[in-house]
Amino acid sequence: PEYQAFSTHVISWYRANPRELPWRGTSDPYKIWLSEIILQQTRVAQGLPYYYAFVEAYPTVKDLALAPESEVLRLWQGLGYYSRVRNLHACAQFIWQELDGHFPNTYESLLKLKGVGSYTAAAISSFAFGEAKAVVDGNVFRVLARYFGIETDIATSKAKKEFEALANRLIPQDNPGEFNQAMMDFGARQCVPKNPDCESCPLANSCFALKNGLVKQLPVKINK
Ligand code: ADE
Repeated sequence: PEYQAFSTHVISWYRANPRELPWRGTSDPYKIWLSEIILQQTRVAQGLPYYYAFVEAYPTVKDLALAPESEVLRLWQGLGYYSRVRNLHACAQFIWQELDGHFPNTYESLLKLKGVGSYTAAAISSFAFGEAKAVVDGNVFRVLARYFGIETDIATSKAKKEFEALANRLIPQDNPGEFNQAMMDFGARQCVPKNPDCESCPLANSCFALKNGLVKQLPVKINK
């Protein structure tokens, strides 16, 4: 398969179709972490005002750590899934008090933070620290399943391992953060679940699903 071509094309597509998002201009792990926690169960458009409000109220992890819980919860009002904001606050206090304010700076150490799973740890470590760890979520499953013709049921843990291994092979060592952002946007805006516009897709001539008429069939998700 065309591993190199895939990564090159996804990144070029991203450079030609950039979404201006406030957390993209920063390498501050605190702000990136904040944005990723907000975006875990929230769409970008809905999350944006909350991101701005938090960065304004708490520009650093210290400010968040020292803020009263009631105030932090109030700022989160309307976003739901309140365990996210409780973990956020507890992590800020942990980083401020136990780590002397030093934000964890590797994929493995980020994973130990409450509320940070493999996707969020990969996002923070690649965006803030240039670590080559690929984000893998439903968007990434879909893009890779279609392009490479992978028929593994994406609801299984086998699929998670398989897609993670593939994505980590595709991610360029010299530009991991940009590749991850590109995959997020490519899945959200070009290789969309329903009726993707394959005619305008820069990956069209080497996409397995398009070549074989399987765009509608991939990714495979067997309902239990
Ligand atoms: N969804 C999760 N993380 C994101 C990010 N950094 N940019 C856009 N959408 C996202």
